[in-house]
Amino acid sequence: MSVKFTYYGHSTFAVETGGAKLVVDPFFAPGNPAAPVTVDQVEADYILLTHGHGDHTTSAPALAKRTGALAIGNFEVTSWMEKHGAKRVHGMNTGGAYTFPFGRVKMVVALHSSTMPDGSSGGDPNGLVIHFNDGHDVYIAGDTALTYDMKLIGEAGGVDLALLPIGDNFTMGPDDAILAAQFVKAKQVIPVHYETFPVIRQDAHAFASKLRALAEIDCTVLQPGESFILE
Ligand code: NI
Ligand code: MN
Repeated sequence: MSVKFTYYGHSTFAVETGGAKLVVDPFFAPGNPAAPVTVDQVEADYILLTHGHGDHTTSAPALAKRTGALAIGNFEVTSWMEKHGAKRVHGMNTGGAYTFPFGRVKMVVALHSSTMPDGSSGGDPNGLVIHFNDGHDVYIAGDTALTYDMKLIGEAGGVDLALLPIGDNFTMGPDDAILAAQFVKAKQVIPVHYETFPVIRQDAHAFASKLRALAEIDCTVLQPGESFILE
């Protein structure tokens, strides 16, 4: 088995593994200027939400309503999803893990904020550590500052792939993301949450070169629409 990640710009990914289709932090066109597709062009069995901000949740209710996908996120975020028409939700909270048919999802600490688009509370923001059924471990950082809590992920054995924000301003920037990659003992990094808006423009290829040179960690820069496969 393998796990295929298709990038849709910003922090939005489609993940395919063992016949299951996951969408992480759905933010599609036209709201997401980097996304090559609209929410109507995407299929999902599961929707994973790291936190409440609109650039991670705007397309989630429409995707849930059309596909009937199970929405997974913290309790406040999944309650908001229910309020906006999602029929199937699974609420969790920081520190908790649960085994879904595709693998085990653990919600970990993210240092950020988490208001929903309508101003209601999104609870605490989260990162996700997923142990997929095929054996791969993946850290989806969500929006976060660099935090020493990331070392716990490294101490637990590290991950095959980390999706790390590098945009700065709202999240950690490239230099802190290099430390984050080392803290979580990532074998491979894909940078996210940059380029979408002027205030978070970054040179992702410069980040990739620096990560390889300083930390000897491999890095793949994806253009929206491109995929990366863990196999
Ligand atoms: Ni955010
Ligand atoms: Mn964000």
